[in-house]
Amino acid sequence: MSNNPADSDQPIKPRRSLKFRKAKMRHVVFTVGANRLTGGWLGRRHQNERPLTRHIEISTPAWPEEHDGLRIGHVSDFHFGDLMSLDKAMLTVEALKNEAPDLICNTGDLVDLEWSGVEPLVQAFAELAPPLGNFMVLGNHDELDSAEEVARVASEAGLHVLRDQSMSIDHQGSTLRIGGVDWARTPGQCRDRINAMNRDGRPDLLLCHNPKGFDQAASLGIPLTLSGHTHGGQIARRNKPHANMAFAHKRSAGLYEINDCRLFVTVGVGAWFPLRMNCPAEVVIITMRHGPASASHD
Ligand SMILES: [Fe+2]
Repeated sequence: MSNNPADSDQPIKPRRSLKFRKAKMRHVVFTVGANRLTGGWLGRRHQNERPLTRHIEISTPAWPEEHDGLRIGHVSDFHFGDLMSLDKAMLTVEALKNEAPDLICNTGDLVDLEWSGVEPLVQAFAELAPPLGNFMVLGNHDELDSAEEVARVASEAGLHVLRDQSMSIDHQGSTLRIGGVDWARTPGQCRDRINAMNRDGRPDLLLCHNPKGFDQAASLGIPLTLSGHTHGGQIARRNKPHANMAFAHKRSAGLYEINDCRLFVTVGVGAWFPLRMNCPAEVVIITMRHGPASASHD
């Protein structure tokens, strides 16, 4: 018998990247293992948690007057997979449907590990059909299996996947420009991607999975940046969302400012491990105002 796999009738599976295998190992330890240790209690509790819908109104002189009142549905970090079933993900889709924002922005980590199976979720997003469109960028987890496949299935469903690029849309007779960048780990990598995206013209709104892109976005005068990635640490002090376990990030949850530019970091809808404390999953509806600097939320 030949030992050469090429002689076998079985299809040869491509070997996963080291990053994928490391992430899978973390998943086995922190998700599967933690759940088993609690007799399945953690997982059951996690699956039954519903995302909160939060409303925030942000006013800044940098936001264009012609787009005053724009309502953005911001979601992030689904981590579709073991901790985010299609049924659980549909709770977020339903929340967005109820709010009917002008556009939807998904700031990455659509999938946790494997991309296969995510098609019904992107299809459900597409069926929301917000009037100004459905936009997304890729996060670090989207790259673990295949960034190209995640981008392909989302694009084929009708979502605008912005990969170091921007696009213009018509909003009430004026041009609204939306930019997005692929996953970038360091501030320097964020800078390079944001500069590449910015070549076609400065966007009004930037989607950047990593909040570490905000310094560069603000230096370019981009009025609003939306990010995820941190999950707000998933564990935070009561009533202090900024005091959380995302130690590697100085901007890990909520609203930040540099001059008149704003960053909103959502804590996301999904999870790396089946536990959130004082940091509930959220769907965020942002209303942008042109005016003196202020912010209010419910
Ligand atoms: Fe994430």
